[in-house]
Amino acid sequence: MSNERSTYLTTPIYYVNGLPHIGHGYTTIAADVFARWRRSQGDPVFFLTGTDEHGQKVLQTAQGRGMTAQEHVDDLVVHWRAMWDKLHIDFDRFIRTTESDHERVVQAVLQHLYDRGLIEQKDYEGWYHVNDEIFVTDKDVEAGRYQAEDLQRITESNYWFKMSAYQDALLDHLERHPDYIQPTSRRNEVLGFLRQPLGDLCISRPKARMSWGIELPFDPDYVCYVWFDALLNYLSGIGYHPDPEQAGDWQRWWPATYQLIGKDILTTHAVYWSTMLIALDVPLPTTLYAHGWWTSADGDKMSKSSGNAIDLGLLVQEFGADVCRYFFLREKSFGGDGSFSYEGFLNRYNADLANDLGNLAHRGLSMTRSWLGAKVPAPGANTDLEDALRSTAARAVREYADKLDHLDFPGALTALWDLVKATNKYVDTTAPWALNKAGNTERLHAVLRAVLEVCHLVACCLLPVMPTKAVELLSKFGTPEQDGYRCLSGLVERAREDQISLADLHPGQAVDLGDPLFPRLKELPEAIAALFVEPEPEPSASAAAPLPPQIAFEDFTKIALRAGKVVSAKAHPKADRLLVLEVDIGEPKPRTIVAGIASRYAPEQLIGLGVVVVANLKPAKLRGIVSEGMLLAAGAEQPVGLVQVDAIPGEIVR
Ligand code: MSP
Repeated sequence: MSNERSTYLTTPIYYVNGLPHIGHGYTTIAADVFARWRRSQGDPVFFLTGTDEHGQKVLQTAQGRGMTAQEHVDDLVVHWRAMWDKLHIDFDRFIRTTESDHERVVQAVLQHLYDRGLIEQKDYEGWYHVNDEIFVTDKDVEAGRYQAEDLQRITESNYWFKMSAYQDALLDHLERHPDYIQPTSRRNEVLGFLRQPLGDLCISRPKARMSWGIELPFDPDYVCYVWFDALLNYLSGIGYHPDPEQAGDWQRWWPATYQLIGKDILTTHAVYWSTMLIALDVPLPTTLYAHGWWTSADGDKMSKSSGNAIDLGLLVQEFGADVCRYFFLREKSFGGDGSFSYEGFLNRYNADLANDLGNLAHRGLSMTRSWLGAKVPAPGANTDLEDALRSTAARAVREYADKLDHLDFPGALTALWDLVKATNKYVDTTAPWALNKAGNTERLHAVLRAVLEVCHLVACCLLPVMPTKAVELLSKFGTPEQDGYRCLSGLVERAREDQISLADLHPGQAVDLGDPLFPRLKELPEAIAALFVEPEPEPSASAAAPLPPQIAFEDFTKIALRAGKVVSAKAHPKADRLLVLEVDIGEPKPRTIVAGIASRYAPEQLIGLGVVVVANLKPAKLRGIVSEGMLLAAGAEQPVGLVQVDAIPGEIVR
């Protein structure tokens, strides 16, 4: 295991203005899997993650909670660390930008660049984007790239980093290092951005406007711009200091192997960070990898305000960390976008984990228990079938390793699952139950041995992805975690030379069936299914509810009300309160409408009824069925009665 390659891996540091969601979890899981993978291959690894604690957004959130900024970040950071614990994130350092050693490095860098004339003071008059904390050019404003209400016109004296001076150097680097920014589509985006002249970067904020940040060492009236401060964590986190006398052992790790980021923060890294490094005479990282985003099931951006953010804590609580880790990495390509749905999650769990892997392990172990006294059989004479399985295993391990090395997580897992599926097929073909019945002990031993070997091999390979489930599977073979990691490293070496033997287990080793690793789930866990139940309306004090503010007529006309006729009605399979109706509103096909009227109407009472439909309401899924509209009804708490109309379906209702 003498391996000279050292691996330095970073995630973005996350703003502590909320709790971690699946987007944050995604980058961090990917980084952790890669770090564990490289450690398993004998590389020295340093994995850095942490929190970005300065800046306007954090300050605003703190003010909203009635806390000082420091109180707020100290309170929230605990939740971030706890979430990474739950997800088994094994980082080497968790950095907070409010830590004094980070602040010291930021100030030293600022002074260093200032002393060299690379930071200078200039007056600025123009647009400022409050939420993004950036200065926006007139051109961007004219092009309508920003919402007018987010922009402020300001006149300010500030300090600027001479970023413009490094445009050519950066382009040159991109030219000479085609893998610097991955995937290629993101590299092209950066090249496109660099086609226009690069401006300078404002790196200060006057304390009078925003005081939550690191003070500029050469002007106490200013704090450092949050991005300039945050990006430097990647160096301060490993002991960098511009003065070599004060620096630690940072060059042991730098340049970073992979800096993982989301596609939304590509420019700040590819342009700001890269030029900062060039100005500091520090080599650029080997690769900046900008991964894609998770969207809601409808492809919309997830956000807390739109109510479609996925509760990462709940997902981990209900499915366990390892299932989440597997799902996120397997479900979509790392570079591309993907949509999240709970149904997709459940399907992936049942197909890959319960049916494929879980089933293989359970079959192999239970047959060994029933017919071989729960002991690994000695290797026997192999046939072409075992030889074929062995080459499938060698190919799977080789591809798994190569793809993981290039952050192709779904590719790596698919390669491994090809082996799992082939082995399930091998069991079906060799039919050990028939061999047992026929008393063909020699073949029975050879077959079960091959199956157990594959299960053990897959468990070793999965250690970086599913660190607890893989250990659980290994323990059924009596293999401790450390031996599993050692075995993984050996397997990869041998697979590269096509030397996989499928003879790693000791004959006579006791195996333990235990509980199934991934029991099949018929439906979503209750705590998740409950998310789709409409909340019971709050009882109101009087029947005459107070009126909301008046609206203009044109606001009313935005609601498309249409006459409809109920074509069919039945009970909702998953909710007693709901009925599922088909309603004709003059369109080629009737609409499916899920209505909370089961306490007032039996389905058969509704057939043929003339109803009023809100026809342009955004479709919503109610306990698994998409409702394509809503019926007007009286009664805020309980449905008192449907609004009825005698008109041709499709007629406008006003
Ligand atoms: N604090 C800055 C990063 C500074 S790094 C020097 C920041 N923080 S963040 O908390 O807003 O976001 C961090 C990361 O989460 C980004 O990489 C972003 O792409 C990622 N994600 C946020 N939502 C996401 C999805 N819905 N899907 C995938 N990743 C997403 O930006």
